[in-house]
Amino acid sequence: MRRLLIAGNWKMNMKLDSAKALASGLKEAAAGITEVDIAVCPPSVYIAPVAEALAGSNIACGAQNAYFEKAGAFTGEVEMAMLTDLGCKYVILGHSERRHIMGESSELVNLKVHAALKAGLIPIVCVGELLKEREAGVTDLVNRRQFDGSFSGVSAEDMKKCVIAYEPVWAIGTGKVATPDQAQEVHANLRALIAERYGKEVADVVRIQYGGSVKAENAKDLLGQSDIDGALVGGASLKVDAFMGIINAVK
Ligand code: 13P
Repeated sequence: MRRLLIAGNWKMNMKLDSAKALASGLKEAAAGITEVDIAVCPPSVYIAPVAEALAGSNIACGAQNAYFEKAGAFTGEVEMAMLTDLGCKYVILGHSERRHIMGESSELVNLKVHAALKAGLIPIVCVGELLKEREAGVTDLVNRRQFDGSFSGVSAEDMKKCVIAYEPVWAIGTGKVATPDQAQEVHANLRALIAERYGKEVADVVRIQYGGSVKAENAKDLLGQSDIDGALVGGASLKVDAFMGIINAVK
């Protein structure tokens, strides 16, 4: 049985005080919840204070991105080992905002996936189609390409550790949510693809989260689908009540 993973992607939001307050508020509100895995991914400069505020809680810390190289002359970048150093468990890789705003390719995401696994981090690898791709009927093709590119060379044992986040780009920050049926269809196709590449045993354990305008009101229906194993939450992860509303709706 796959455990649900509810992760908050804070994106480029918060300041030091609000980040610490959100972390402390979540620690208190989520105390005692053992039915689901919970994580928050603050901006990298706030990981240390957030991890400190979450110490002793059931909420793990993650990062939103990192570079694939080992320490060296890479101005402005963060190494995977720096994230484990701060107590991170997860790292989001290949988020659509990085693919489409920063121009990250699946080849680059792939290098990062290997580096994250080597460092002992759990990569949360995002895939998802643009609205025009969905309308052109190439949703599965786009997701398959992003999956194959991002996981190239990853062993079956490592694949089992990875998390995939299906985030249709047209549903991110727009208030437009994929219907549970639309999301389930893509999730089932992604799981079938994992089975094709790695076999059923691996496909059965890999968690596939849904992301895109998830909130307390729609979380139960989405996460009630058989192949949806959690949520990657943007806007609704920035307030204790909104994030806890999602967790309480699905736990
Ligand atoms: P929203 O929940 O704000 O739509 O963001 C989704 C997302 O991109 C999470 O990574």
